[in-house]
Amino acid sequence: MTMHSDDEQAVSPGIQKYIDTNNEYLERRDKYIDDVVKNLKFDTIAVHGLYTVEDAIEDYDGAIIEPVFLSSSQAYRDSDELEAALAYLIPTWCYSRIANPTTYYYEWTLALLEGYDFDGGTSCCSTSSGMAAIMMAVQPFLVHTKEHVFEERNFLATAQCYGGTYQLFSVRLEQERGVECRWIEDPTDIDAWASRIDENTRFLYGELPSNPQQGFFDIEAVADLAHSHGLPLIIDSTVATPVLTRPLELGADIVVHSATKYLNGHSDVIGGAIVSEDRDLGERIRDQQRISGPVPGPLDCWLVLRGIKTLHVRMKRHCENAERIAEFLVGHPAAGNVLYPGLPTHPQHELARRQMQGFGGMISFDAGSFERARTVVASTRLFQLAESLGGVESLISVPAEMTHASVPAEVREKIGLTNGLVRLSVGIESADDLIADLQHALDQP
Ligand SMILES: Cc1ncc(COP(=O)(O)O)c(C=O)c1O
Repeated sequence: MTMHSDDEQAVSPGIQKYIDTNNEYLERRDKYIDDVVKNLKFDTIAVHGLYTVEDAIEDYDGAIIEPVFLSSSQAYRDSDELEAALAYLIPTWCYSRIANPTTYYYEWTLALLEGYDFDGGTSCCSTSSGMAAIMMAVQPFLVHTKEHVFEERNFLATAQCYGGTYQLFSVRLEQERGVECRWIEDPTDIDAWASRIDENTRFLYGELPSNPQQGFFDIEAVADLAHSHGLPLIIDSTVATPVLTRPLELGADIVVHSATKYLNGHSDVIGGAIVSEDRDLGERIRDQQRISGPVPGPLDCWLVLRGIKTLHVRMKRHCENAERIAEFLVGHPAAGNVLYPGLPTHPQHELARRQMQGFGGMISFDAGSFERARTVVASTRLFQLAESLGGVESLISVPAEMTHASVPAEVREKIGLTNGLVRLSVGIESADDLIADLQHALDQP
């Protein structure tokens, strides 16, 4: 390939042929998104994503669902095609750390769902876990802008968050890399966010509803604040999923997910995803991931993609079951301080009604003490004592000694994560059976 001095690339006719073919494909795809997908309802996009009848017939032997491409590398027709691919002149997949057809369909489906009803384009980069998604999402904002100069950097994050996130921010970023994490204990207090921003702030980060305390805040208000300082807002929307809340539409810039949870929904994969409303930023994140490498395997992507096809149906049932169980718990004397955004007693219930379409499948309550919590979780027969959430089966856990054990006790106390807190991930079984199971467990002496 020869290069013009003004950086415009002059390519050989052999390479140009591939560029033209691929440009035709991209035009067809963008037109399909604009003319067809943008007019489809959320539930239809969840099932079909970007996989068309034409894709199935022309490219995949008529396979009615997206095939799994386990191959680590792609073979090329000739050196021209290879050269065009390696120079990123054509969108092929090349090598599975760089891209993969199964991954492609999964990422597009999630990008379209998070971007549903949103005017701009969205892009998605899948990762090997939810933690990898969080790390990859914050990374572009932490780079030093001056050569060989250590710059003061800080960011703001909701203190009520998943224990792994707490550890990533407070240990990996703050202690080991010198990036100050300024924890926001009450995210509903916009002045608290505003007063912690200074010229070294790089981004704002929030998890909601937070795992496990159901912390909540006004995404639009925090996004407006972030943007008034030229900063991005990153939201961990794992617990809500795009069925219940779409943070990009409310002004957030990046959404991260643990795909391990509701997106996959069947507790058989670890995965994550980053969806960004700015395609350039999305590309930057993807580039960085290609080099650092925490990519998901194609089979894992396919499992999440399969899960997403039923996400809207599952979330509806998770919400219905959780609402009934939350009401049951409120009426049981052994369950104190029931935390669920769907309850009128939740401090942000009214905001949750506006910001969510359904209140999710996670509930927490206080069993009174560590010992009582242990008795309850040992006494259920359907709710399994396990980490994680968001699967079709119901799980029960004691966050203080499980998912949030890495959060120091004094911090747990400050953010309302008591020793007796029990977290339920309500599955899609019969609510009657789940209530009977909890009744039995809570009635134990
Ligand atoms: C809200 C939230 N974000 C992120 C994560 C991390 O996801 P993963 O376990 O897929 O790395 C979790 C895991 O429980 C979570 O609950």
